Amino acid sequence: MALSRIKTGIFGVDEIIGGGVPQGRIVLVTGGCGTGKSIFALQYLFFGASELNEPGVYVTFDEMPDKIREDMAVFGWNIKALEDSGKIAIVDATSARAGSPSEEEHAVLPGQMDIDRLFVEIMSIARNIGAKRIVIDSVPAMAFRLDNPSDIRKNILKLAYVVSRSGLTALITSEVPEQPLSSNTALRFSKYGVEEYVADGVILLNFLGVGGASSTRTIYIRKMRGTNHTTEIHPIDITDKGIVVKKIEDVFK
Ligand SMILES: Nc1ncnc2c1ncn2[C@@H]1O[C@H](COP(=O)(O)OP(=O)(O)OP(=O)(O)O)[C@@H](O)[C@H]1O
Ligand SMILES: [Mg+2]
Repeated sequence: MALSRIKTGIFGVDEIIGGGVPQGRIVLVTGGCGTGKSIFALQYLFFGASELNEPGVYVTFDEMPDKIREDMAVFGWNIKALEDSGKIAIVDATSARAGSPSEEEHAVLPGQMDIDRLFVEIMSIARNIGAKRIVIDSVPAMAFRLDNPSDIRKNILKLAYVVSRSGLTALITSEVPEQPLSSNTALRFSKYGVEEYVADGVILLNFLGVGGASSTRTIYIRKMRGTNHTTEIHPIDITDKGIVVKKIEDVFK
């Protein structure tokens, strides 16, 4: 029986992963800095909320919510309007990380930076808006205050457990240094080397050949359980409408 799929809405991505992300699963979106991980994740939430009536929660440990709203408005995505209509909730976990208070409606306060409480809080917000999608951006920023590798591993496993049980379809982000994608190198997929194993899918974004043409941005599906996905490295663009997978014929135009 075919798996139910949740459309990412990212132009060209659903086509290379068999129609969308398997419902209720966790997909890791990983890559170097500025490769488009956050845009990818927000595009997924924006599309679900605006086109499919699938509410979503965005938990941000990295960027301040106001900056996210501003940056995404450049793509014509009115995140604020979707927050006002209860289709998107941004949970501000940056203040907890920085140890200062937040002015956001949904925030994890400094004293709550106990990861268990954080997860309970996030899931209650998800239930309140009837969320179908969730994004955790990013795992390294979530683990920022933990310095013991075994605590970090435990918390990533816990995150995966809580998210899986919730039935939400999740994107989590991690970081990995830029690396050449030639087939004879052993690629790395995450900061802690755990994220790719707790995830059902791994999407690697790259931005090599700095200074060259825009076709140096790529997407590569490393795994997607239950899915006959492509194995190529696809060129992508970040356009004024967000991320787009380019067709090979367009690259050689
Ligand atoms: N409106 C836009 N049009 C084209 N490209 C853009 C636009 N906005 C951002 N970008 C590109 O996307 C990059 C930022 O993408 P994003 O924030 O998703 O990266 P990231 O992988 O999440 O980075 P980090 O690891 O720092 O969080 C910018 O550095 C820029 O190259
Ligand atoms: Mg980011």
